[in-house]
Amino acid sequence: MAGNRTFTMIKPEAVENGNTGAILAKIQEAGFKLIALKKTRLSSERAGEFYEVHKERPFYGELVDYMSSGPIIAAILEKDNAVLDFRTLIGSTDPAEAAEGTIRKAFAESKAKNAVHGSDSDDNAQIEGDFFFTADERF
Ligand code: CMP
Repeated sequence: MAGNRTFTMIKPEAVENGNTGAILAKIQEAGFKLIALKKTRLSSERAGEFYEVHKERPFYGELVDYMSSGPIIAAILEKDNAVLDFRTLIGSTDPAEAAEGTIRKAFAESKAKNAVHGSDSDDNAQIEGDFFFTADERF
């Protein structure tokens, strides 16, 4: 059964470019409720741990360096069918392939600097939310 929560990060370039408010507005306009929200910065060790699943990929080093290069916004989002609906809202990993109206189409610069992360499964949404938030940071 599809779960009702997903996890997102607004990535360093989108935060640096002042797009946090516009991206959060799009997320809320699409019907997602903010359950937890914080601005923080990942150390390279923490970024490496978060993206451990991509350790063998050629872009892993670049990904870890980039994701620890500046502050990010982390959030747990709630909506029916959250994981799939959020992935539709953000669009393809590569902004060149992202559909019109998606967050990545509007804000992403490249495959690496692609504005936002979205969990790819209910299990990962749980794991990723737990990576950033304690129980008393969720409302
Ligand atoms: P994200 O949804 O955060 O999950 C894994 C990330 O790896 C992905 O978004 C991209 O930012 C990044 N990524 C995927 N493919 C590439 C690539 N070919 N080059 C650089 N980064 C990539």
